[in-house]
Amino acid sequence: MCGIVGAVSTRNIVPLLVQGLQRLEYRGYDSCGVAVHVAGALRRVRGIARVADLAAQCEREGLAGLTGIAHTRWATHGAPAMDNAHPHFSFGPQFDGRLLARVTLVHNGIVENHEELRAELQARGYRFASQTDTEVIVHLIDSLYGSEADLAQAVRAAMQRLRGSSAIAVLHQDEPGRLVGARQGMPLVLGLSMDGQDRFLASDALALAGVTDRIAYLEDGDVADLRLGQAEVADARGERAERPVRTVRALGGAVDLGPYRHYMQKEIFEQPQAIADTLEGVETVASELFEAARNPAPGEGAAATFTLARQVLILACGTSYYAGCVAKYWLESIAKIPTQVEIASEYRYRDSVPDPDTLVLTITQSGETADTLAALRHAQSLGMRRTLTVCNVATSAMVRESSLAYLTRAGVEIGVASTKAFTTQLAGLFLLTLALARARGHLDGLKQAAYLKTMRHLPAALHAVLALEPQIIGWAEQFAAKENALFLGRGMHYPVALEGALKLKEISYIHAEAYAAGELKHGPLALVTSAMPVVIVAPNDALLEKLKSNMQEVRARGGVLYALADADTRIESGAGLHVIRMPENYGPLSPILHTVPLQLLAYHTAVARGTDVDKPRNLAKSVTVE
Ligand code: M6R
Repeated sequence: MCGIVGAVSTRNIVPLLVQGLQRLEYRGYDSCGVAVHVAGALRRVRGIARVADLAAQCEREGLAGLTGIAHTRWATHGAPAMDNAHPHFSFGPQFDGRLLARVTLVHNGIVENHEELRAELQARGYRFASQTDTEVIVHLIDSLYGSEADLAQAVRAAMQRLRGSSAIAVLHQDEPGRLVGARQGMPLVLGLSMDGQDRFLASDALALAGVTDRIAYLEDGDVADLRLGQAEVADARGERAERPVRTVRALGGAVDLGPYRHYMQKEIFEQPQAIADTLEGVETVASELFEAARNPAPGEGAAATFTLARQVLILACGTSYYAGCVAKYWLESIAKIPTQVEIASEYRYRDSVPDPDTLVLTITQSGETADTLAALRHAQSLGMRRTLTVCNVATSAMVRESSLAYLTRAGVEIGVASTKAFTTQLAGLFLLTLALARARGHLDGLKQAAYLKTMRHLPAALHAVLALEPQIIGWAEQFAAKENALFLGRGMHYPVALEGALKLKEISYIHAEAYAAGELKHGPLALVTSAMPVVIVAPNDALLEKLKSNMQEVRARGGVLYALADADTRIESGAGLHVIRMPENYGPLSPILHTVPLQLLAYHTAVARGTDVDKPRNLAKSVTVE
């Protein structure tokens, strides 16, 4: 969603700020802007087009300065319009149309009490130029700044008045060469130049790729005060705090497209490596694998949690929710533990019957998804203290707030459509299943070794599936002309069908639905005509014969079938039936392999339709607001 970049430097920082915004474009946005401190004044350029247009506009207007902030906005409060684009200005309470701006600010998050603050500030003479919740913060800081409070103190005092979650970066007209940032509930990192005096702020370290890899992660309540060669952090109590500076590698690799046309394609092809990284060093399914979180439940590590939990409650959104749906099949059949999967945005608002002996399992690539985070907090408030997250971002709120964590090693995922994050989640969830099964006496050493051997072969198996790309392009050429598609699967491949439909709809804008194949004749069969392509996920498992009957039901109505069949099934191409043969039957791990052709199908269909694959309309990478 929204993105922040800020810098204090010895050289003009506008190109660097714009480049930072370009790195954050993948998160989704509908307007953008830059503000700099120049010759004693604050100047800004904003736009409601792409960052490339903003860069051209900055160039035309000769915007340059040594201290600045920049932002990509994904509209929540107020339409995607120029007045609502950040950076926002405060001219002070006596604005008569001639004064220079006194404060400028960019903001990620939501100010829940913005109406009450707006009324208060309006009563004190502040005029509002936008419909955003953000604008209250810039006026609030202006109202607090003065003889009693410098910029950092005014920022701290303003943050204390905000409800909701916010990360901000602020400049003041009277303080050239000073940049102040603060966070509460939204991420913000500090960057230190590798050899010089420059200091940076960003909502995501990726924004600084190619600029610096020396990053410190701010914590909730922190205020960071940046000047050339200085970066002072004060914690929530206002006391000086040290935030360790880490060298964050692989940022450059993540943004480098290499031979690929889009990040989504690159990330699909990175899956063998991502799974290999996720499994690196896994010799047994030791419970310690799940103790990456910094806040283990007092007196109880993963081993005790895995033995004592009576059931699992999975909470997640979107693709991560579908990973949870696959995991339910594994957890119940292999670990024999009752499992429910809930959409986080539903769970957080419904009356449920809490059981304190539940293991609450959140699944999230970003670790910042607002609904999943709120669902976790809701479960905790109901007395469920055993929490585990499967997450791809070690520094995320979800990892901080969970008692246990398993970190997937997908690396940075830039394409909005989740691909390698999903398959690494599945790998992590399968390991969790084995660990629970082991802890609860349902898995002996021999079986464990056999499962781990199969898992270690996954990267090679994935390479073989990726080699199917030319055949999938053939399918995609046919799908590109369609406006609807149906996806069918059974058992643990039903969520794979759901994920395939989600991929297709989010990047190609083709209306796609997925059903458990047994449901076909209870309604969706009415949609089947010769114009309706029907994708069937057809592994050679116990449900194959049932699935074949479902395929007959489709064929009998003239529907055209596209089957992803395991090598050892006897499903052959024929009239109205296109078959792509999967290289091998992968037993319980088959959902990981069957997902990949569906990702490629969505990708190539979207390419054929000419959509913006990595930044599909209306979507954001991390949904950090409700
Ligand atoms: O970061 P999370 O895994 O919590 O994100 C959840 C969903 O927003 C995400 O999976 C979304 O559905 C993807 N765009 C799907 O490709």
